[in-house]
Amino acid sequence: MSTRDHRFFDSFMLALGIFVGVVVGVVFFVRMNAFEARDQFALDDPEVQAAIAERIRPVGSVLLIGDPELEAAAAVTVAIAAPEPVDTVLTGAQTYNEACYLCHSEPGVGGAPVIGNVEAWLPRIEQGIEILHERSIAGYQGEVGFMPAKGGRVDLSDAEVTSAVDYMIEQVPLAE
Ligand code: HEC
Repeated sequence: MSTRDHRFFDSFMLALGIFVGVVVGVVFFVRMNAFEARDQFALDDPEVQAAIAERIRPVGSVLLIGDPELEAAAAVTVAIAAPEPVDTVLTGAQTYNEACYLCHSEPGVGGAPVIGNVEAWLPRIEQGIEILHERSIAGYQGEVGFMPAKGGRVDLSDAEVTSAVDYMIEQVPLAE
């Protein structure tokens, strides 16, 4: 090899070396950045985990008996289902519609005196209002049929039942 070739070879190798060095440097730099970026979105980061869990959180879940979450859920449900107890007293008409209408409207179930019917009610009214009140509360086995205590609605107060009796009597057109 001539001296000239030698020099060319040397500077060629130097250039090649620099080039390779630069390429390796660039690759290394890019890889480092990539690692950093990956670290930023690392899946095992608890914050990232929490964010993902929140995003894919199911809308509802099925709780089985024995599930500790069930008790907590039940407590919430009870709180929602049991509103402040409201002291509701039904009027005579309301009680009649809820508890008496079933038998005492046309045609009169089991021989029940139909509301507003003079023939059916007049002899009963003549017994006196106290007896009618008593029987509507306690129940009554008469000649035509059986009148269940409070019309079967034992949840009603005595006052609600008697006001229903008064309401039924008011519907009898006695003036005519
Ligand atoms: C399941 C049917 C039924 C329901 C519900 C019912 N009754 Fe009666 N009721 C009867 C029958 C039947 C008689 C007639 C009994 C007889 O005289 O033999 C009667 C009779 C009566 C009498 C007349 C009692 C007498 O001494 O003549 C009154 C008052 C009365 N009911 C009030 C009510 C009131 C108030 C309600 C609602 C809270 C009600 N009933 C709901 C069946 C019912």
